[in-house]
Formats: sequence, structure tokens, C-alpha cells
Amino acid sequence: MTRRAWGKCLLILFWMSMGPMAADAAQKITRQRFGRTAEGIPVDLFTLTNRNGMEVKITNYGGIVVSVKVPDRNGTLGDVVLGYDTLEGYLKDNRPYFGAIIGRYANRIAKGRFTLDGREYRLAQNDGENHLHGGIKGFDKVVWKASPVRTRQGVGVRLTYRSRDGEEGYPGTVLVTVTYTLTDANELRIDYLARTTKKTILNLTHHSYFNLAGTGDILEHRLRINADLFTPVDRTLIPTGEIRSVKGTPLDFTRPTPIGARIEQKDEQLLFGHGYDHNWVLNKSDAPLTLAARVEEPRTGRVLEVYTTEPGLQFYSGNFLDGSITGKANRVYGRRAGFCLEAQHFPDSPNKPHFPSVVLSPGQQYRQTTVYKFSVSPSPGQ
Ligand code: GLA
Repeated sequence: MTRRAWGKCLLILFWMSMGPMAADAAQKITRQRFGRTAEGIPVDLFTLTNRNGMEVKITNYGGIVVSVKVPDRNGTLGDVVLGYDTLEGYLKDNRPYFGAIIGRYANRIAKGRFTLDGREYRLAQNDGENHLHGGIKGFDKVVWKASPVRTRQGVGVRLTYRSRDGEEGYPGTVLVTVTYTLTDANELRIDYLARTTKKTILNLTHHSYFNLAGTGDILEHRLRINADLFTPVDRTLIPTGEIRSVKGTPLDFTRPTPIGARIEQKDEQLLFGHGYDHNWVLNKSDAPLTLAARVEEPRTGRVLEVYTTEPGLQFYSGNFLDGSITGKANRVYGRRAGFCLEAQHFPDSPNKPHFPSVVLSPGQQYRQTTVYKFSVSPSPGQ
């Protein structure tokens, strides 16, 4: 081959290695100032846009997903997550944990206590007598270091946070990296990585509230959860330790069912949860990412699928939203205005030795991938 031919060949290889993004200007990341925390720490807002015009806004305060705009059946973009227009909104009152990264321990730990290698650790009891979502100042309320990323899969934001030894009562300094990527397949992909300096526990999740109609409540959304089993809870929402079949219960979502169809039934689990607020034990396949849930909103045709590496999924039907919060575009968030699908390890695992382990040791790497994939169904109810 001549030198010129070699040169051409290399050029083509280089161009191919740049991936599709080099050829398309529609993929975009912008960064702007979102505001400052009470301590004066600057906080940014990243806007990710993919080739189809889908747009996701993420802030490095709490790693919060602020908005997700996806098309409906007619191609009309609509924002399908709950939250605030401004940083002040999140700083003032994010009791519902809108859109945030949750850590170090997503969901509940009974009485805020656990034992590791014979030593008892005590955590904040910030949900009645239990520990919830990492404590007083969890990962949802800290400012993460942030940088934009472009990969073959899409455009994204990489967030890192160093949680010091003893923070919120947990042992070990933990270094966490969370990468949000918006792909051209209309997926919001979340990759979590973490390491620790001392043996500790870790259970990370993402807490977006979805409403695929963009308005009203979520009771008409049709939900399927890929799980034959769930972990029943006591009246404080701590798992009893039993792993129970969903068969014959209102927690059976093995076939697509409107969220509201059975939510008011006189069922002990629904009474304890004030609706759905439970962990489902996912049916796992050999694939690294298994389908955890699929939700369809019949009127707009919007569909959300959740894929994850995690063993559990908390489906929370927004029961504690009570109309006291006015969010984006002056919308009042009434009861069940949004739902969460939180991929996770089971609640209270540190006190339930037969649940999959949440222990992380030095030298090990914590890894999780969860994908929220958006699409539309062609005709109502399909
Ligand atoms: C989780 C919990 C719920 C509730 C919300 C936040 O989903 O399981 O009980 O605390 O977070 O309001």
C-alpha cells in the first residue's frame, strides 16, 4: 500500500473511532450556574440533549435530575419528572427526595442500628425510629464534583463525592462516582462506582418521581414489575424478613395493571405502606441488566422501562405527597402525583443476614448500573 493510501486508511479509522457523535451536532451538553448553597458553594445545572431532541437537566447538588423531557405519541415533548425550577426549591424543602442520588444507604435501617464485625454503629433515626435514605445530610444534600462527559453511548455528567470516615455515622471513607448518560436510544443510564477505606455498608439508588402524563396523578399508569416475590413490611416499613409470593395479592404486577386498580384495597401491606411503598425481589436472568419494570401512560402513550443490575426494586406510589409542595411551573403536587422506581438492595439488609449482602470491603468495588428507557407505544393501552 502506498503512503497516501495508508494515510487515507488511518483517517477513516480515526473518523470511525469518533463514533456517531462526531457526525452529529444535535448531541449537546451545556453547563450553567444554578445558584449557591447556604454556605456559598456554587452549584451548576447541566443540560444534556440527544439526537432525538430528548433533554435531561441534572444538577450537582444531590446529583438531582431536575427535568426529563421526552416525546409523547404525537412527538410532543413533556417533562415527566417532579421537582423544582430553582436550586432554592431543592435547598428549602426536598423532603420527598425529588430526583436525587440516595446514599449511603437507600431506604430504611431498623432503629438506625447495625453491627459490622462485632461493632455496633448508630445512625440518625430520621424516619420515626428508623434510619432513612442516608440520614440528616445524605448524598442527596451534598455538592458533588462534576464534569461533562462524552462517550460512545452519549453525552453525560460524571459526579464524584468523597464521603469521609464517620459521616452520618457510617464507617470508612467512601469515594463514589455516579455517571449519568443520555443515549440516543432515549435512555437515561446511571452507572455507580464506589470504593471504601474500611469495611462498610453501601446501597445507592436514584429517586426520581415520574409522571408520564406530566400532570394529574399516576393512578392510570399501567405498571408491570418483573418480580414474583416481595419483602413484606411491618407498620414502620421495615421488612419482616419474610420473602413472600405476590400471587393473589394487590402487589402482583406480573401483568400490566393500572397503579390505581387495587391501591385502596383493605390489604395489610397497603395499609402499612399508605399505598405502594415496598421492595420487589426481581426475577433475574443471566443478562447483566434485567428488565425490572415497564410503565405505560395510556393517554400520551409514553412508556418507561427500568433495567438494572440490582436485586430489588422499591416501587413507591408517592403516598406522602400531600399538596403542600408547589413544584415546577407552579404545579401543586397532590397525593400520588408521581411514582418512584428505585433499583436497590433490600431495605434493612444490614440486619437481615439472609438478604443479599450490602457489605463493601476495602479492595472491592461497588458497581451498579440502572437504565431508565423512554419510548412510546403506538396505540392506546398496548
Ligand atoms: C422512599 C421511601 C418512602 C418515602 C420516600 C420519600 O421511597 O420508601 O417511604 O420515604 O422515599 O418520601
